[in-house]
Amino acid sequence: MNVRAGVVGVSSLMLVSAIVGGLGEAAEHDGNAGKGKVLYANLCIRCHGVEGKGNGVMTFTPPVADLTAPAVQHKLDATLLKTIHDGRKNTAMGAWKFVLTEEEMRDVTAYVRVLGTGANRTLP
Ligand code: HEC
Repeated sequence: MNVRAGVVGVSSLMLVSAIVGGLGEAAEHDGNAGKGKVLYANLCIRCHGVEGKGNGVMTFTPPVADLTAPAVQHKLDATLLKTIHDGRKNTAMGAWKFVLTEEEMRDVTAYVRVLGTGANRTLP
């Protein structure tokens, strides 16, 4: 995905390609959202919740980020990836570089974009 594209462009591109090509192909040149969905369900959902709103079963101080919030979705892929990669010091957000490959982190980032569009609710 072109990181210079505005978030509106990125989101509508994801939505259009998700509808046309299916979830798995939504971001074929970058992360694979279909694979990211599985990773998200296994690793992220317990904190970030089914819809990414930060209302998973585990709660923390500082609170879990709402991944669908404009403040998060307006960030570049590279910025989200860096947080996923390195985690956030003194928060419950861990460094996934110890768990996931670079490709898997791109896949889960692509799924964070799907959560941002709400397309996760209408697609399998
Ligand atoms: C143990 C709970 C926990 C798990 C598991 C977890 N997170 Fe987080 N995450 C957090 C918390 C808490 C924050 C907010 C950190 C802060 O306050 O800066 C956060 C923040 C984030 C952010 C930054 C949002 C922003 O404001 O820019 C992203 C992106 C993110 N998480 C993605 C993920 C992904 C993807 C996974 C799974 C691979 C995951 N998280 C797993 C607790 C978790």
